[in-house]
Amino acid sequence: MKRPEIKTQLPGPEAKKILADDELFISPSYTRSYPMVAKKGNGCWVEDVDGNTYLDFNAGIAVCSTGHCHPEVVEAIKKQAEELIHMSGTDFYYPQQVELAKKLAEIAPGDNAKRVFLSNSGAEANEAAIKLARYHTKRQYIIAFYGAFHGRTYGAMSLTASKYVQRKHFAPLVPGVIHVPYPNPYRPPFSKDVSPEKVAEEVVQFIEEVVFNTVAPAEEVAAIIAEPIQGEGGYVVPPDNFFPLLKKLCEKYGILLIIDEVQAGMGRTGKMFAIEHFGIEPDIISVAKGIASGMPLGATIASRDVMDWPPGAHATTFGGNPVSCAAALKTIELLQNELIENAARQGEYLLGELKKFMDEFEFIGDVRGKGLMIGVEIVKDRETKERDGALRDKIVDEAFRKGLLLLGAGANVIRFCPPLVVTKEEIDVALEILRDVMKSV
Ligand SMILES: Cc1ncc(COP(=O)(O)O)c(C=O)c1O
Repeated sequence: MKRPEIKTQLPGPEAKKILADDELFISPSYTRSYPMVAKKGNGCWVEDVDGNTYLDFNAGIAVCSTGHCHPEVVEAIKKQAEELIHMSGTDFYYPQQVELAKKLAEIAPGDNAKRVFLSNSGAEANEAAIKLARYHTKRQYIIAFYGAFHGRTYGAMSLTASKYVQRKHFAPLVPGVIHVPYPNPYRPPFSKDVSPEKVAEEVVQFIEEVVFNTVAPAEEVAAIIAEPIQGEGGYVVPPDNFFPLLKKLCEKYGILLIIDEVQAGMGRTGKMFAIEHFGIEPDIISVAKGIASGMPLGATIASRDVMDWPPGAHATTFGGNPVSCAAALKTIELLQNELIENAARQGEYLLGELKKFMDEFEFIGDVRGKGLMIGVEIVKDRETKERDGALRDKIVDEAFRKGLLLLGAGANVIRFCPPLVVTKEEIDVALEILRDVMKSV
Protein backbone atom coordinates (compact mmCIF):
# COMPACT_ATOMS: atom_id res chain seq x y z
CA MET A 1 0.00 0.00 0.00
CA LYS A 2 1.23 3.47 -0.91
CA ARG A 3 2.25 5.53 2.10
CA PRO A 4 3.21 9.18 2.57
CA GLU A 5 6.92 9.80 2.14
CA ILE A 6 8.61 12.69 3.89
CA LYS A 7 12.19 12.92 2.66
CA THR A 8 13.23 16.41 3.76
CA GLN A 9 12.90 18.49 6.87
CA LEU A 10 9.58 20.34 6.75
CA PRO A 11 9.39 22.82 5.19
CA GLY A 12 11.97 21.58 2.65
CA PRO A 13 14.47 23.84 0.83
CA GLU A 14 12.26 24.58 -2.20
CA ALA A 15 9.23 25.18 0.04
CA LYS A 16 11.26 27.65 2.11
CA LYS A 17 11.91 29.81 -0.96
CA ILE A 18 8.21 29.99 -1.82
CA LEU A 19 7.28 30.70 1.79
CA ALA A 20 9.72 33.62 1.88
CA ASP A 21 8.16 35.22 -1.21
CA ASP A 22 4.68 34.42 0.03
CA GLU A 23 5.41 36.37 3.16
CA LEU A 24 6.50 39.37 1.11
CA PHE A 25 3.90 39.36 -1.64
CA ILE A 26 0.75 37.54 -0.54
CA SER A 27 -1.95 39.12 1.60
CA PRO A 28 -1.34 38.10 5.22
CA SER A 29 -5.06 37.50 5.76
CA TYR A 30 -4.91 33.79 4.88
CA THR A 31 -5.01 31.18 7.62
CA ARG A 32 -2.40 28.54 6.80
CA SER A 33 -2.08 25.84 9.46
CA TYR A 34 1.25 24.44 8.27
CA PRO A 35 3.86 25.12 5.57
CA MET A 36 2.84 22.66 2.82
CA VAL A 37 3.72 23.98 -0.64
CA ALA A 38 1.89 21.83 -3.19
CA LYS A 39 3.19 20.96 -6.62
CA LYS A 40 1.08 18.08 -7.93
CA GLY A 41 -2.01 16.17 -6.95
CA ASN A 42 -3.46 12.82 -7.95
CA GLY A 43 -6.52 11.26 -6.32
CA CYS A 44 -6.00 11.53 -2.54
CA TRP A 45 -2.27 12.21 -2.89
CA VAL A 46 -0.36 15.47 -3.05
CA GLU A 47 3.33 16.00 -3.76
CA ASP A 48 5.09 19.12 -2.50
CA VAL A 49 7.78 21.16 -4.26
CA ASP A 50 10.51 19.13 -2.51
CA GLY A 51 9.14 15.76 -3.62
CA ASN A 52 7.50 14.82 -0.29
CA THR A 53 4.17 13.03 -0.68
CA TYR A 54 1.11 13.42 1.53
CA LEU A 55 -2.20 11.68 1.96
CA ASP A 56 -4.74 14.46 1.60
CA PHE A 57 -7.71 14.22 3.96
CA ASN A 58 -9.04 17.70 3.35
CA ALA A 59 -9.24 17.87 -0.47
CA GLY A 60 -8.49 21.60 -0.74
CA ILE A 61 -11.17 22.23 1.91
CA ALA A 62 -13.81 19.89 0.52
CA VAL A 63 -13.30 21.04 -3.06
CA CYS A 64 -11.53 18.24 -4.95
CA SER A 65 -14.55 15.95 -4.73
CA THR A 66 -13.41 13.65 -7.53
CA GLY A 67 -9.85 13.68 -6.19
CA HIS A 68 -6.96 15.79 -7.43
CA CYS A 69 -6.80 16.01 -11.21
CA HIS A 70 -9.28 13.25 -12.03
CA PRO A 71 -8.30 12.26 -15.60
CA GLU A 72 -11.86 12.58 -16.92
CA VAL A 73 -12.28 16.03 -15.38
CA VAL A 74 -8.88 17.11 -16.77
CA GLU A 75 -9.94 15.86 -20.20
CA ALA A 76 -13.26 17.75 -20.03
CA ILE A 77 -11.43 20.94 -19.02
CA LYS A 78 -8.87 20.59 -21.83
CA LYS A 79 -11.50 19.88 -24.46
CA GLN A 80 -13.60 22.87 -23.44
CA ALA A 81 -10.58 25.19 -23.14
CA GLU A 82 -9.65 24.39 -26.72
CA GLU A 83 -13.10 25.37 -27.92
CA LEU A 84 -14.34 28.30 -25.81
CA ILE A 85 -12.98 29.66 -22.52
CA HIS A 86 -15.18 32.68 -21.98
CA MET A 87 -18.17 34.43 -23.48
CA SER A 88 -19.99 35.84 -20.42
CA GLY A 89 -23.35 34.34 -19.64
CA THR A 90 -24.41 37.80 -18.52
CA ASP A 91 -24.70 39.03 -22.10
CA PHE A 92 -24.52 35.95 -24.33
CA TYR A 93 -25.72 32.37 -24.52
CA TYR A 94 -23.68 29.16 -24.70
CA PRO A 95 -24.76 25.54 -24.28
CA GLN A 96 -22.63 24.52 -21.28
CA GLN A 97 -24.31 27.02 -18.96
CA VAL A 98 -27.82 25.83 -19.83
CA GLU A 99 -26.80 22.20 -19.74
CA LEU A 100 -25.39 22.58 -16.23
CA ALA A 101 -28.38 24.59 -14.97
CA LYS A 102 -30.72 21.92 -16.36
CA LYS A 103 -28.72 19.20 -14.62
CA LEU A 104 -28.68 21.04 -11.28
CA ALA A 105 -32.42 21.73 -11.54
CA GLU A 106 -32.98 18.04 -12.20
CA ILE A 107 -30.89 16.74 -9.27
CA ALA A 108 -31.88 19.36 -6.67
CA PRO A 109 -34.17 17.90 -4.01
CA GLY A 110 -37.95 18.30 -4.20
CA ASP A 111 -40.64 18.40 -6.85
CA ASN A 112 -40.75 22.13 -7.62
CA ALA A 113 -39.33 23.25 -10.96
CA LYS A 114 -36.04 25.10 -10.48
CA ARG A 115 -33.94 27.87 -11.98
CA VAL A 116 -30.21 28.41 -11.45
CA PHE A 117 -27.91 31.42 -11.14
CA LEU A 118 -24.23 30.61 -11.78
CA SER A 119 -21.35 32.44 -10.14
CA ASN A 120 -17.75 31.77 -9.08
CA SER A 121 -17.68 30.93 -5.36
CA GLY A 122 -19.60 29.98 -2.26
CA ALA A 123 -19.79 33.57 -1.03
CA GLU A 124 -21.23 34.68 -4.36
CA ALA A 125 -23.76 31.84 -4.34
CA ASN A 126 -24.94 33.07 -0.94
CA GLU A 127 -24.96 36.74 -2.02
CA ALA A 128 -27.32 35.75 -4.83
CA ALA A 129 -29.43 33.71 -2.41
CA ILE A 130 -30.03 36.55 0.05
CA LYS A 131 -30.53 39.18 -2.64
CA LEU A 132 -33.07 36.90 -4.30
CA ALA A 133 -34.83 36.21 -0.99
CA ARG A 134 -35.20 39.91 -0.27
CA TYR A 135 -36.23 40.65 -3.84
CA HIS A 136 -38.84 37.91 -4.00
CA THR A 137 -40.43 38.45 -0.58
CA LYS A 138 -39.98 42.24 -0.41
CA ARG A 139 -39.05 41.61 3.26
CA GLN A 140 -35.84 42.67 4.95
CA TYR A 141 -34.78 40.37 7.82
CA ILE A 142 -32.60 37.30 7.43
CA ILE A 143 -32.06 34.82 10.23
CA ALA A 144 -28.73 32.97 10.35
CA PHE A 145 -27.05 30.78 12.96
CA TYR A 146 -24.17 31.17 15.40
CA GLY A 147 -21.28 29.05 14.21
CA ALA A 148 -22.31 29.60 10.58
CA PHE A 149 -19.84 30.31 7.82
CA HIS A 150 -21.29 31.63 4.59
CA GLY A 151 -18.34 33.52 3.08
CA ARG A 152 -16.40 36.74 3.36
CA THR A 153 -18.01 39.26 1.02
CA TYR A 154 -20.16 41.85 2.82
CA GLY A 155 -23.51 40.07 2.54
CA ALA A 156 -22.08 36.62 3.21
CA MET A 157 -19.87 37.96 6.02
CA SER A 158 -22.89 39.53 7.66
CA LEU A 159 -24.47 36.07 7.82
CA THR A 160 -21.25 34.47 9.08
CA ALA A 161 -20.89 34.05 12.85
CA SER A 162 -18.02 31.63 13.18
CA LYS A 163 -14.95 33.52 14.44
CA TYR A 164 -14.78 37.17 15.45
CA VAL A 165 -11.60 37.78 13.41
CA GLN A 166 -13.73 37.30 10.29
CA ARG A 167 -15.71 40.42 11.27
CA LYS A 168 -13.36 42.55 13.38
CA HIS A 169 -13.02 46.14 12.07
CA PHE A 170 -15.31 45.44 9.09
CA ALA A 171 -18.51 46.84 10.58
CA PRO A 172 -20.98 48.23 9.76
CA LEU A 173 -22.19 45.04 8.17
CA VAL A 174 -25.35 44.49 6.13
CA PRO A 175 -28.25 45.38 8.40
CA GLY A 176 -31.24 43.13 9.07
CA VAL A 177 -29.36 39.92 9.94
CA ILE A 178 -30.27 38.20 13.21
CA HIS A 179 -28.31 35.26 14.62
CA VAL A 180 -29.78 32.44 16.65
CA PRO A 181 -28.15 29.33 18.19
CA TYR A 182 -27.58 26.26 15.99
CA PRO A 183 -29.01 23.01 17.39
CA ASN A 184 -25.72 21.38 18.42
CA PRO A 185 -26.63 18.06 20.11
CA TYR A 186 -23.20 17.85 21.80
CA ARG A 187 -23.43 21.39 23.20
CA PRO A 188 -27.15 22.16 23.54
CA PRO A 189 -27.67 25.93 23.47
CA PHE A 190 -30.67 25.98 25.81
CA SER A 191 -31.57 23.18 28.29
CA LYS A 192 -28.62 20.91 29.07
CA ASP A 193 -28.77 17.10 29.09
CA VAL A 194 -31.78 16.88 26.82
CA SER A 195 -32.44 14.65 23.82
CA PRO A 196 -31.31 15.85 20.37
CA GLU A 197 -34.98 16.15 19.36
CA LYS A 198 -35.57 18.53 22.26
CA VAL A 199 -32.48 20.57 21.30
CA ALA A 200 -34.00 21.14 17.84
CA GLU A 201 -37.44 21.94 19.26
CA GLU A 202 -35.98 24.54 21.61
CA VAL A 203 -34.12 26.33 18.82
CA VAL A 204 -37.18 26.54 16.57
CA GLN A 205 -39.28 27.61 19.55
CA PHE A 206 -36.74 30.37 20.31
CA ILE A 207 -37.06 31.74 16.77
CA GLU A 208 -40.85 31.74 16.90
CA GLU A 209 -41.40 32.87 20.46
CA VAL A 210 -38.46 35.18 21.09
CA VAL A 211 -37.10 36.46 17.76
CA PHE A 212 -40.47 36.97 16.04
CA ASN A 213 -42.00 38.54 19.15
CA THR A 214 -39.17 40.93 19.92
CA VAL A 215 -36.72 41.97 17.18
CA ALA A 216 -38.06 40.73 13.83
CA PRO A 217 -41.78 40.37 13.15
CA ALA A 218 -42.28 37.13 11.18
CA GLU A 219 -44.00 38.92 8.33
CA GLU A 220 -40.85 41.00 7.80
CA VAL A 221 -38.49 38.00 7.68
CA ALA A 222 -37.38 37.17 4.14
CA ALA A 223 -35.37 34.04 4.82
CA ILE A 224 -33.70 31.71 7.25
CA ILE A 225 -30.30 30.50 6.05
CA ALA A 226 -28.61 27.40 7.45
CA GLU A 227 -25.89 24.92 6.66
CA PRO A 228 -27.30 21.37 6.62
CA ILE A 229 -24.20 20.37 8.59
CA GLN A 230 -22.14 23.25 9.96
CA GLY A 231 -18.70 23.26 8.33
CA GLU A 232 -16.25 25.89 9.57
CA GLY A 233 -18.26 26.01 12.80
CA GLY A 234 -16.99 22.53 13.70
CA TYR A 235 -18.72 19.86 11.58
CA VAL A 236 -21.88 19.96 13.65
CA VAL A 237 -24.68 17.59 12.59
CA PRO A 238 -28.11 18.87 13.68
CA PRO A 239 -30.78 16.52 15.09
CA ASP A 240 -32.93 14.71 12.51
CA ASN A 241 -36.08 16.66 13.39
CA PHE A 242 -34.47 20.10 13.08
CA PHE A 243 -34.93 20.83 9.38
CA PRO A 244 -38.48 19.44 9.19
CA LEU A 245 -39.40 21.74 12.11
CA LEU A 246 -37.62 24.71 10.58
CA LYS A 247 -39.32 24.15 7.21
CA LYS A 248 -42.70 24.01 8.93
CA LEU A 249 -41.96 27.29 10.69
CA CYS A 250 -40.94 28.90 7.38
CA GLU A 251 -44.09 27.70 5.66
CA LYS A 252 -46.27 29.00 8.47
CA TYR A 253 -44.96 32.55 8.00
CA GLY A 254 -44.13 32.63 4.26
CA ILE A 255 -40.38 32.72 4.96
CA LEU A 256 -37.92 31.25 2.46
CA LEU A 257 -35.54 28.53 3.63
CA ILE A 258 -32.04 28.87 2.16
CA ILE A 259 -29.76 25.87 2.56
CA ASP A 260 -26.03 26.52 2.17
CA GLU A 261 -24.63 23.30 0.69
CA VAL A 262 -21.29 24.89 -0.19
CA GLN A 263 -19.25 22.58 2.06
CA ALA A 264 -21.63 19.67 2.70
CA GLY A 265 -23.06 19.33 -0.80
CA MET A 266 -22.10 17.54 -4.01
CA GLY A 267 -22.05 14.01 -2.71
CA ARG A 268 -19.79 14.51 0.29
CA THR A 269 -22.27 13.28 2.90
CA GLY A 270 -23.33 10.22 0.89
CA LYS A 271 -26.22 12.04 -0.80
CA MET A 272 -25.92 14.59 -3.60
CA PHE A 273 -27.22 17.31 -1.26
CA ALA A 274 -26.81 16.98 2.50
CA ILE A 275 -30.32 18.31 3.11
CA GLU A 276 -31.65 15.08 1.51
CA HIS A 277 -30.76 13.36 4.80
CA PHE A 278 -33.49 15.43 6.42
CA GLY A 279 -36.24 14.96 3.82
CA ILE A 280 -37.22 18.56 3.11
CA GLU A 281 -37.19 20.77 0.02
CA PRO A 282 -35.44 24.14 0.48
CA ASP A 283 -36.62 27.21 -1.44
CA ILE A 284 -33.05 28.18 -2.33
CA ILE A 285 -29.84 26.11 -2.29
CA SER A 286 -26.33 27.46 -2.64
CA VAL A 287 -23.47 25.24 -3.82
CA ALA A 288 -19.82 25.75 -4.75
CA LYS A 289 -16.61 24.01 -3.57
CA GLY A 290 -17.02 20.37 -4.71
CA ILE A 291 -19.25 21.17 -7.69
CA ALA A 292 -16.48 21.45 -10.29
CA SER A 293 -13.58 19.48 -8.74
CA GLY A 294 -11.51 22.64 -8.20
CA MET A 295 -12.58 24.93 -11.04
CA PRO A 296 -14.22 28.09 -9.66
CA LEU A 297 -17.99 27.80 -9.76
CA GLY A 298 -20.91 28.70 -7.52
CA ALA A 299 -24.58 28.00 -8.10
CA THR A 300 -27.76 29.33 -6.53
CA ILE A 301 -30.64 26.97 -7.21
CA ALA A 302 -34.15 28.23 -6.47
CA SER A 303 -37.72 27.22 -7.08
CA ARG A 304 -38.73 28.65 -10.44
CA ASP A 305 -41.43 30.87 -8.95
CA VAL A 306 -38.95 32.25 -6.38
CA MET A 307 -36.28 33.15 -8.97
CA ASP A 308 -38.40 35.90 -10.47
CA TRP A 309 -36.02 38.85 -10.66
CA PRO A 310 -35.84 40.89 -13.88
CA PRO A 311 -32.92 41.39 -16.30
CA GLY A 312 -30.22 43.52 -14.66
CA ALA A 313 -31.18 42.67 -11.08
CA HIS A 314 -28.23 40.29 -10.66
CA ALA A 315 -25.38 39.15 -12.91
CA THR A 316 -21.64 38.49 -13.02
CA THR A 317 -19.07 38.54 -15.84
CA PHE A 318 -17.25 35.28 -15.12
CA GLY A 319 -20.05 33.27 -13.48
CA GLY A 320 -20.61 29.86 -15.02
CA ASN A 321 -17.83 30.13 -17.58
CA PRO A 322 -17.77 27.27 -20.10
CA VAL A 323 -14.66 25.56 -18.69
CA SER A 324 -16.03 25.48 -15.12
CA CYS A 325 -19.38 24.24 -16.45
CA ALA A 326 -17.68 21.42 -18.37
CA ALA A 327 -15.76 20.43 -15.21
CA ALA A 328 -19.00 20.51 -13.20
CA LEU A 329 -20.93 18.37 -15.67
CA LYS A 330 -18.18 15.74 -15.62
CA THR A 331 -17.95 15.98 -11.82
CA ILE A 332 -21.70 15.38 -11.41
CA GLU A 333 -21.53 12.40 -13.77
CA LEU A 334 -18.70 10.85 -11.73
CA LEU A 335 -20.52 11.55 -8.46
CA GLN A 336 -23.71 9.94 -9.72
CA ASN A 337 -21.95 6.94 -11.25
CA GLU A 338 -20.04 5.86 -8.18
CA LEU A 339 -18.55 8.52 -5.92
CA ILE A 340 -21.61 9.38 -3.83
CA GLU A 341 -21.99 5.74 -3.03
CA ASN A 342 -18.29 5.49 -2.22
CA ALA A 343 -18.59 8.52 0.08
CA ALA A 344 -21.42 6.83 1.98
CA ARG A 345 -19.58 3.51 2.28
CA GLN A 346 -16.11 4.83 3.14
CA GLY A 347 -17.61 7.50 5.38
CA GLU A 348 -19.41 4.91 7.46
CA TYR A 349 -16.16 2.97 7.84
CA LEU A 350 -14.11 6.07 8.77
CA LEU A 351 -16.74 7.26 11.26
CA GLY A 352 -16.90 3.83 12.92
CA GLU A 353 -13.12 3.58 13.22
CA LEU A 354 -12.79 7.12 14.60
CA LYS A 355 -15.47 6.37 17.18
CA LYS A 356 -13.32 3.45 18.36
CA PHE A 357 -10.51 5.97 18.99
CA MET A 358 -12.65 7.30 21.84
CA ASP A 359 -11.82 4.13 23.84
CA GLU A 360 -8.11 4.90 23.48
CA PHE A 361 -7.94 8.67 23.73
CA GLU A 362 -9.65 10.43 26.60
CA PHE A 363 -9.21 13.82 24.90
CA ILE A 364 -11.72 12.96 22.16
CA GLY A 365 -15.04 14.38 23.31
CA ASP A 366 -17.21 13.64 20.28
CA VAL A 367 -17.02 12.01 16.86
CA ARG A 368 -19.79 12.86 14.39
CA GLY A 369 -20.57 13.29 10.74
CA LYS A 370 -22.27 11.96 7.66
CA GLY A 371 -20.46 10.34 4.75
CA LEU A 372 -17.03 11.88 4.29
CA MET A 373 -17.77 14.97 6.37
CA ILE A 374 -16.59 13.96 9.82
CA GLY A 375 -15.53 15.99 12.85
CA VAL A 376 -13.55 14.87 15.89
CA GLU A 377 -13.87 17.23 18.83
CA ILE A 378 -10.83 17.58 21.13
CA VAL A 379 -11.54 18.45 24.77
CA LYS A 380 -9.64 18.87 28.05
CA ASP A 381 -12.22 16.91 29.97
CA ARG A 382 -15.11 14.77 28.74
CA GLU A 383 -17.31 15.82 31.67
CA THR A 384 -16.89 19.58 31.35
CA LYS A 385 -16.38 19.44 27.55
CA GLU A 386 -13.83 22.25 27.87
CA ARG A 387 -12.39 22.83 24.39
CA ASP A 388 -8.72 22.05 23.76
CA GLY A 389 -7.80 24.09 20.69
CA ALA A 390 -4.06 23.92 21.42
CA LEU A 391 -4.05 20.12 21.45
CA ARG A 392 -6.15 20.03 18.27
CA ASP A 393 -3.61 22.30 16.54
CA LYS A 394 -0.76 20.09 17.74
CA ILE A 395 -2.44 16.95 16.34
CA VAL A 396 -3.04 18.62 12.97
CA ASP A 397 0.58 19.85 12.84
CA GLU A 398 2.08 16.49 13.83
CA ALA A 399 -0.10 14.71 11.27
CA PHE A 400 1.30 17.02 8.58
CA ARG A 401 4.84 16.15 9.66
CA LYS A 402 3.98 12.47 9.21
CA GLY A 403 2.44 13.08 5.79
CA LEU A 404 -1.29 13.26 6.58
CA LEU A 405 -3.04 16.49 5.60
CA LEU A 406 -5.83 17.44 8.01
CA LEU A 407 -7.33 20.79 8.99
CA GLY A 408 -9.19 22.15 11.97
CA ALA A 409 -12.75 23.45 12.05
CA GLY A 410 -14.24 25.57 14.81
CA ALA A 411 -12.20 26.12 17.96
CA ASN A 412 -11.22 22.51 18.69
CA VAL A 413 -12.44 20.13 15.99
CA ILE A 414 -10.39 18.13 13.47
CA ARG A 415 -12.20 17.89 10.16
CA PHE A 416 -12.02 14.90 7.86
CA CYS A 417 -13.15 15.71 4.31
CA PRO A 418 -11.06 13.56 1.96
CA PRO A 419 -11.76 13.36 -1.77
CA LEU A 420 -14.73 11.10 -2.48
CA VAL A 421 -12.46 8.68 -4.39
CA VAL A 422 -10.79 7.64 -1.11
CA THR A 423 -10.32 3.88 -0.63
CA LYS A 424 -10.53 1.76 2.53
CA GLU A 425 -6.78 1.17 2.25
CA GLU A 426 -6.10 4.91 2.20
CA ILE A 427 -8.38 5.38 5.21
CA ASP A 428 -6.43 2.66 7.05
CA VAL A 429 -3.15 4.47 6.34
CA ALA A 430 -4.64 7.74 7.60
CA LEU A 431 -5.97 6.07 10.75
CA GLU A 432 -2.60 4.45 11.46
CA ILE A 433 -0.82 7.81 11.18
CA LEU A 434 -3.47 9.52 13.28
CA ARG A 435 -3.21 6.88 16.00
CA ASP A 436 0.60 7.33 16.15
CA VAL A 437 0.14 11.11 16.31
CA MET A 438 -2.50 10.90 19.04
CA LYS A 439 -0.29 8.57 21.07
CA SER A 440 2.66 10.93 20.72
CA VAL A 441 0.84 14.07 21.85
C1 LIG B 1 -20.80 26.52 4.13
C2 LIG B 1 -19.96 27.50 3.38
N1 LIG B 1 -20.56 28.52 2.74
C3 LIG B 1 -19.85 29.42 2.04
C4 LIG B 1 -18.48 29.37 1.99
C5 LIG B 1 -17.72 30.40 1.22
O1 LIG B 1 -17.24 29.84 0.04
P1 LIG B 1 -16.09 30.58 -0.79
O2 LIG B 1 -14.85 30.50 0.02
O3 LIG B 1 -16.02 29.80 -2.07
O4 LIG B 1 -16.54 31.97 -1.01
C6 LIG B 1 -17.81 28.34 2.64
C7 LIG B 1 -16.34 28.26 2.62
O5 LIG B 1 -15.71 27.60 3.37
C8 LIG B 1 -18.57 27.38 3.36
O6 LIG B 1 -17.99 26.38 4.03
